[in-house]
Amino acid sequence: MKHKIAPSLLSADFLHLQKEVEMINQSDADWLHLDIMDGVFVPNISFGFPILEAIKPVCRKPMDVHLMIVEPQKFIPEVAAVGAYMMNVHYEACTHLHRTVAAIKEAGMQAGVTLNPHTPISLLEDILQDVDMVLLMSVNPGYGGQRFIEHSVEKTARLKEMILSKGLHTQIEVDGGVNLQTARRLLDAGADILVAGSFVFHASDPLQTIRELKNL
Ligand code: DX5
Ligand code: ZN
Repeated sequence: MKHKIAPSLLSADFLHLQKEVEMINQSDADWLHLDIMDGVFVPNISFGFPILEAIKPVCRKPMDVHLMIVEPQKFIPEVAAVGAYMMNVHYEACTHLHRTVAAIKEAGMQAGVTLNPHTPISLLEDILQDVDMVLLMSVNPGYGGQRFIEHSVEKTARLKEMILSKGLHTQIEVDGGVNLQTARRLLDAGADILVAGSFVFHASDPLQTIRELKNL
């Protein structure tokens, strides 16, 4: 199956969000990636549910919501209310991950579990069968435009192997430092979905950049 591209709105021009979302609508992007930060789980604050609500009537791509917050289980109703397709929670933020994953699905969304760069994939051993997607962070979450962590390529390959060895169809998304070079290597390692923030929104021609990522 052809890989998916999920531009991250974090690097968009916040003064012209409607224009940016309409650009994504017209593009070859598959999903729109939305980064919510709380200044506690990560050392930065981005935007919250009022922004997602504002985007909702304009956005025609499935919303891929990435919660970089403590206690993400508290906000399942809010994420469901904006019509999100995918809700990603961090492994490191969930004490009762199995319960949280079940609640996300009961709310009608796909469930994604996110791992920070230092978190081993072996910790997914007993939850992998219940999740729709694993989101591997290839930078430390909190900011756009950071340098890609090389180890992520090998980590992606090992996760792919783990998924195949269990006979599962769990998708792998990778987030952070994605450009045409790192994207190629991540796809070869088995990534299914690539998030790209600054590489898309800071490009001189974002539509063309998305097309190039999609055509890899
Ligand atoms: C980082 C966010 C990313 C971010 C990626 O904490 O989760 O989604 O937007 O930005 P780039 O692609 O610029 O590394
Ligand atoms: Zn993200």
